[in-house]
Amino acid sequence: MAINTSDRQVAVLITAESKRQQEVLEMIPSENYTSQAVREAVGSVFINKYAEGQAKKRYYQGNSVVDELESLCKKRALELFQLDPDQWGVNVQALSGSPANLAVIAALLEPGERILSMYLPDGGHLSHGWQLPGKKVTLVAKIWDVTFYHVDKGTRVFDYDEIQKQAKEVKPKLLISGGTAYPREIDHKRMAGIAHSVGAYYLADVSHEAGLIAGGVNTSPFPYADVVMMTTHKTLRGPRGAMIFSKKELSSAIDQSVFPSIQGGPHEHTIAGIAVALGEAKTPAFSAYAKQVVKNAQILAGLFMKAGLDVVSGGTDKHLVLIDLRSSGASAWVVAWALEYANIVVNRNTVPFDNGTSVYPSGIRLGTPAITTRGMKEKEMKLIGGWITEIISSVKDIRLPENKEERAAFIIRMKKELPADKTIQRIAKEVTELTAKFPVPERY
Ligand SMILES: Cc1ncc(COP(=O)(O)O)c(C=O)c1O
Repeated sequence: MAINTSDRQVAVLITAESKRQQEVLEMIPSENYTSQAVREAVGSVFINKYAEGQAKKRYYQGNSVVDELESLCKKRALELFQLDPDQWGVNVQALSGSPANLAVIAALLEPGERILSMYLPDGGHLSHGWQLPGKKVTLVAKIWDVTFYHVDKGTRVFDYDEIQKQAKEVKPKLLISGGTAYPREIDHKRMAGIAHSVGAYYLADVSHEAGLIAGGVNTSPFPYADVVMMTTHKTLRGPRGAMIFSKKELSSAIDQSVFPSIQGGPHEHTIAGIAVALGEAKTPAFSAYAKQVVKNAQILAGLFMKAGLDVVSGGTDKHLVLIDLRSSGASAWVVAWALEYANIVVNRNTVPFDNGTSVYPSGIRLGTPAITTRGMKEKEMKLIGGWITEIISSVKDIRLPENKEERAAFIIRMKKELPADKTIQRIAKEVTELTAKFPVPERY
């Protein structure tokens, strides 16, 4: 029975979310629109099957078709990144990026060994072992000894000589790179050189750039890294999941770390969706898409800088732009909500040397993967860049109170006042007029 008849409550929510995704400018850099084919695969009968183990070595009966599917997915993954199956293995079972990173770390390190990874406010990711002084926020930080490397204070990009120096002092067993809010390309050759010079493995987490690497617009880490982890749902435009590529001699330990160490049965319906997305990513149309994603982000970064905003690192090589709002006077919390009421959805985000918190940080992070999937190009970027700068300027004098109680009352007031603001209302209308011209695509 179709969901419209069997469960009206959930059906109504699906329709509402679908309308929201059509009407807004979805500019969170880690989000995208999957094709109908990907969604059909994820909603397929593979959802019903248990398949613990690897193809042809399962702990459950009835897996002849699942084995074919998972083998096809792995073959497509290796082919997309032009990897020799004698040199590289790939695991497509990790449920998402964070468990995939945990699986890699657990496979390569004994508890208590050292990790050197990118500092979160400098663009790193929680799953690389985030911790605060006196608070081990993540399981990785609780089990392993994590130290962070930082961006340079002046340029706000990495100084690889400094990372080399730090690696010599820390002597990690694992060096991790991977930017969730780092707008520049990472020098994988240099990072692998640093790792290997101190006897460490190099894990390149390219979750954000996966589609840009597949499309040939960002540098591939594969010639240098020991392990490459990527989520499948960001620029790669697949379902929510992850792939772990590893040098052949590490693959068996990583497979066993994913299952049985960390997970149970793999989500074969997701693996079906990943296989479809990998097929789509191999096309020339996808390479053109990846190029346009970066071009669009660079146009936006240029417009923001022209408007006097502080774009971290002075631009972008990728799909994302990070704006430090401190010099504009605007609060990132207010800007993010004002933009959302104007139908432009971005993240508020910490920035290098932030004096705010993760809930009230000093920056906004925005990206172009989803709007580029809809076919938006230079002309639309000019409109979008104009709207964003106009909103930042219109709310820049609204101060977020320091005091906790005052802040709670302020938030309630803002959630009434911002939607009623004339500039925000006008832009919201203009955004929906634009998005109506760029339907969310069903196929690629
Ligand atoms: C660099 C990086 N690694 C790992 C992850 C974690 O992925 P997930 O949210 O699928 O656990 C993310 C998610 O944003 C990420 O940006």
